[in-house]
Amino acid sequence: MREVEGVVLSNCAVAAGIYEMRLLVPDASDVRPGQFLNLSSGEGELLLRRPLGIARHSEDCVTVCYQVKGRGTKALSCRVPGDRLSMLMPLGNGFYVKDSERRIALVGGGVGVFPLLSVAEAYRDREVSAYLGFRNRAAICYEEEFRAVSRLTIGTDDGSVGEKKNAVELFLADYEREKPDVILSCGPPVMLRALKRAIAERGIQAPCYVSLEERMGCGIGACLVCVCDLTNGEHARVCKDGPIFEIGEVEL
Ligand SMILES: Cc1cc2nc3c(=O)[nH]c(=O)nc-3n(C[C@H](O)[C@H](O)[C@H](O)COP(=O)(O)OP(=O)(O)OC[C@H]3O[C@@H](n4cnc5c(N)ncnc54)[C@H](O)[C@@H]3O)c2cc1C
Ligand code: FES
Repeated sequence: MREVEGVVLSNCAVAAGIYEMRLLVPDASDVRPGQFLNLSSGEGELLLRRPLGIARHSEDCVTVCYQVKGRGTKALSCRVPGDRLSMLMPLGNGFYVKDSERRIALVGGGVGVFPLLSVAEAYRDREVSAYLGFRNRAAICYEEEFRAVSRLTIGTDDGSVGEKKNAVELFLADYEREKPDVILSCGPPVMLRALKRAIAERGIQAPCYVSLEERMGCGIGACLVCVCDLTNGEHARVCKDGPIFEIGEVEL
């Protein structure tokens, strides 16, 4: 983990209320799929950093995608090429896929799809199936990018694109045919809970790892703002011990 200054290369809307920002950084070669960065969105109060999953990266560039929610992300959406933003990166444990896990299922909802793109791009040598759920047509993003590196199935809440199913329903409908070796997921808590329930009910044996989103402060394990409950009664820091956990290990 290091503190770096990134230079905004581009910052454009890619779907309704969703922006993609590309940042030039000194070095991004050590970023793992599923890791995140903690990005300052401006000056004064906005110096407090916001955590965002790294959707794509190259040697010297990171791409984040963010939904405008409150003051921090609103300020981020006003940044223009050439602006300099302070950040901590790379943070968190990231997704690890074993050599023996050849078939990967990605289950993503809403803004949770972004860190999953980094997995699909990192594991191009595997059979990757992506099941992505969005609110409606206007919310869909990165369709072509996912299609280039995975077998993609999209669903929407209103049925405007694909089936009128959420990401977990899409995954379950395909499960018997695909039988993935590992399941990786990121999305809203309600979606992760549905996935956990379905895995238990269907007796699915493949390991499943989920990326959690908690409110964060420091992002480096010091402030305890992001603590989550584990099923063994202990606690973990989402920023430092996660954000990725085995699904049976965390209370959802
Ligand atoms: C590891 C991690 C990765 C994330 N990756 C992405 C991503 O790739 N794209 C993306 O759009 N968002 C992502 N988030 C969520 C993002 O950090 C928040 O939406 C953002 O910090 C909100 O800041 P704000 O100042 O705009 O909103 P605020 O004014 O601070 O809050 C506005 C609303 O957002 C909610 N919120 C604030 N912080 C978080 C948070 N950390 N997680 C969930 N909800 C929050 C608040 O409860 C409130 O309802 C991620 C969060 C974590 C912890
Ligand atoms: S955000 Fe400070 S410990 Fe996790």
